[in-house]
Amino acid sequence: MRIAIVGATGEVGRMMISCLAELNLELDLLDLFASAKSEGTMLYYLDHPIKVRELTQESLLTKYDYVFFSAGGGIARAFAPIAADVSELVIDNSSAFRREDTIPLVVPQINGDLLLSYTGIVANPNCSTIQMVLPLAALDNEYGLKKVVVSTYQAVSGSGHSGVDTLKKQRRGSTLKGIYPEVIDLNVIPQIGVFLDSGYSTEEEKMDHETRKIMRRDEIVVCATTVRVPVLYGHSATVYAEFEREIELTRAVALLKSAEAVRVHENSYLTPLAIGNSNEAHVSRLRYGTDKRSLTFWNVGHNVRIGAAANAVNIMHLHAKQSGKL
Ligand SMILES: NC(=O)c1ccc[n+]([C@@H]2O[C@H](COP(=O)([O-])OP(=O)(O)OC[C@H]3O[C@@H](n4cnc5c(N)ncnc54)[C@H](OP(=O)(O)O)[C@@H]3O)[C@@H](O)[C@H]2O)c1
Repeated sequence: MRIAIVGATGEVGRMMISCLAELNLELDLLDLFASAKSEGTMLYYLDHPIKVRELTQESLLTKYDYVFFSAGGGIARAFAPIAADVSELVIDNSSAFRREDTIPLVVPQINGDLLLSYTGIVANPNCSTIQMVLPLAALDNEYGLKKVVVSTYQAVSGSGHSGVDTLKKQRRGSTLKGIYPEVIDLNVIPQIGVFLDSGYSTEEEKMDHETRKIMRRDEIVVCATTVRVPVLYGHSATVYAEFEREIELTRAVALLKSAEAVRVHENSYLTPLAIGNSNEAHVSRLRYGTDKRSLTFWNVGHNVRIGAAANAVNIMHLHAKQSGKL
């Protein structure tokens, strides 16, 4: 297989290289692109050194089976259509194409059927949304999801390498705000993205829209409050969900346990610091919400893995299997 990664030096790009290596795929070609400042940087796929090159329009005239983009919305809008004209599938991590009706927004375990015979651009969903919809989709099939109220506790790596850098500098004593509207060290900031006229932030609006699009259920309502916390890796969320039908708790646990990429913790809970290299959405503290038609739980996921790189690589893997490349 021939693969390219645009934004290979970033938090998500580097993790994509790791996730591909974890599949142990024999690749015919892996090209890595980033900005001019990273030209010549050496990264490794398994034990093979690969020199990062500056992204240009010409770079994407090569035909690849899969081109991953993780370089932000502007680069995706400018370059992904060029790649899509030449290559088979372009998987973009930014929000640039997520709202477009003709572009699938895919979590393979939920709506991977959309990839069948598909070529062009696929959008990878928002990190907090992926780790939340994986368990909710498992429950929706049986109980009919109606409403979600969610509050997130999102790691600084969700803002990319500059988020990690900002927190590390502040830990060492800097009082500069860095990329955030307030100091993040020893603090929590109830703003991710910019505020819209509705009072919700762009991140909160993404959780609402993307949940409905991925689950293909327009009638679900999502009320999100997204908060940045001084954690390096791993987003957490408290999720309250209302359903059409009454729930039996042991059955709900069984449904979650049998769902792909969901890990249930009974009588214990997971914290982001303990997430390790997990590519799963973790559910703990599962209990009834306000009545027997509602549930509430603690949801943790590695934002750069299941929230970004691992989901993107899962999209590629499923598409490759569906199209007989694997
Ligand atoms: N981090 C997460 O948890 C997460 C989760 C879901 C989605 N995403 C999305 O994934 C994308 C990447 O995020 P990230 O966290 O990896 O950000 P990041 O750490 O800031 O990395 C950004 C990457 O984009 C590259 N880039 C910047 N300008 C470029 C240009 N002009 N030409 C080519 N490459 C350029 C950078 O290259 P240089 O190193 O050369 O500057 C770097 O490789 C964003 O759209 C983000 O919203 C991130």
